[in-house]
Amino acid sequence: MIGSLGGVTDAQASAKPFYLSTPIYYVNDVPHIGHAYTTVAGDVLTRWHRQRGEAAWFLTGTDEHGEKVLRSAQANGVSPQEWADRLVEESWRPVWKSLDIANDDFIRTTEPRHIQRVQTFISRLHDLGDVYEGSYEGPYCVDCEEFKVPGELLDGEGEFAGALLCPIHHRPVEMLAEQNYFFRMSAFADRLLAHYEAHPEFVQPESARNEVLSFVRQGLQDLSISRSTFDWGIPIPWDSKHVLYVWVDALLNYITALGYGSDDPAEVATFEAVWPADVHLVGKDILRFHAVIWPAMLLAAGLPLPRTVFAHGWLLVGGEKMSKSKLTGIAPSQITDHFGSDAFRYYFLRAIQFGQDGSFSWEDMGARYTSELANGLGNLAARVTAMTERYFGGVLPAATDAGPAEQVVADVADRIVTAADAAVLALDFSTGLATIWELVGALNGYLSEQQPWKVAKAIDDDPAARARVATILYTAAEGLRVLAVVLNPVTPRAAANLWVALGAQPALGALAGQPLTEAGRWGQLPPGVTVTKGESLFPRLDDAEPA
Ligand code: MSP
Repeated sequence: MIGSLGGVTDAQASAKPFYLSTPIYYVNDVPHIGHAYTTVAGDVLTRWHRQRGEAAWFLTGTDEHGEKVLRSAQANGVSPQEWADRLVEESWRPVWKSLDIANDDFIRTTEPRHIQRVQTFISRLHDLGDVYEGSYEGPYCVDCEEFKVPGELLDGEGEFAGALLCPIHHRPVEMLAEQNYFFRMSAFADRLLAHYEAHPEFVQPESARNEVLSFVRQGLQDLSISRSTFDWGIPIPWDSKHVLYVWVDALLNYITALGYGSDDPAEVATFEAVWPADVHLVGKDILRFHAVIWPAMLLAAGLPLPRTVFAHGWLLVGGEKMSKSKLTGIAPSQITDHFGSDAFRYYFLRAIQFGQDGSFSWEDMGARYTSELANGLGNLAARVTAMTERYFGGVLPAATDAGPAEQVVADVADRIVTAADAAVLALDFSTGLATIWELVGALNGYLSEQQPWKVAKAIDDDPAARARVATILYTAAEGLRVLAVVLNPVTPRAAANLWVALGAQPALGALAGQPLTEAGRWGQLPPGVTVTKGESLFPRLDDAEPA
């Protein structure tokens, strides 16, 4: 599968690509905007690294085994494989396409490549003595696919009176009593604690790190890693009456997709070149799986640990995690059909501090769309390109009269590129976008002060007025060039349209090839290029909410 690691130069070819993963999503149901939030954040971050000129590898996929998927297939009267195939092809792949997700690979846990490599991994742990046979008795939440600790459960009320409830799903847990295989996870607690200590960046943000530290400091129990009461899973290679616990199966996707355990040496070489992951992006609901179980599994197998597990917050509805099981899921298409994919990508990363919970509201989405995208950026681009067409026949003039006001704009451009870069690399997307919008604001303020439409009244008679209008329009267009480059990872459609409208290609080459770190260097857009008004980047919309 590995083909294009981007337009890598020779110097970068030897560097390890930036490797980012999303969780692989359960195919028990269709995607909602909570899932899309994670994948969009991952896409923006990998595109950002690519725009910096780095090689990057972005993985997403689907988690298809386990009881949760099995039960939804049964409820719909089809086999689990048919159910998974249908959801992947009709819902999951299309939703990523509609959001312009540029993943390099898409792994499904029912693919032979995954199944074979998972069996290789688990046999290795068995051979090393870290897997043993035992019996499990205790509560299990099928919605979480998780063995629960009795102390964390809630007492049911109303229709669930007398039952113990999962604290996340507020639905009764099931009591299991099974002969299972166990992973000797307890043996890794000290090594995990030492790793957290030595690598403060391993679990982020700080709140997530604290949660993991206090959990592991209490000591770890061994983990049941097989189930024997149903067969929708990967058979345990040495005992096919058992299937592997779905979370162990799923976590391994991050290495099986790269080629770990493959028979093909070229794929193993890819694994060695790309692993470890730089960022595993996850929602905070699945933090412990990624920051405790997963590194313990890797330690047992003698593999390097990922650099960072970053847990973002939840999209809330009525104060609770948006979820399909609670019927609060909003389909991404409800938003993209009305506002477009760029607006979706922009809005969630701008409006919610990454790492914290946030509530979605149509009012806020509509308000930000109008003020920041349509009136802020879209109107700016429309005014600058239209005036260049009107006063200079669409030929970008030179800034022959640049003075202090122009220097201020150039300085803002330079500063925001560096500051936005630092923020986004630290996964602080909202600060990154707010910083970029300082340039949008500076350019709009500059135009309001300079009033080129007024100066232009004397353009035919007064060479000084002509030079002034030329300078203003060049300055604004050059500012828009900077915006096109830094926004390409975030709003790729609008950035591409802007690049065309500015006539930047062919003069400067493809937008994807503009190094982000140099975007703030002033004066790159050459005078003489053809500027066209083109279509509106973010058309004004009448209603905030779809009819
Ligand atoms: N299949 C597991 C993950 C296995 S990864 C080895 C799983 N799947 S899931 O379909 O339930 O998706 C969970 C992820 O979707 C969350 O971790 C988060 O990234 C995203 N979200 C699901 N609901 C969400 C919200 N309401 N808000 C934000 N993100 C949400 O767990």
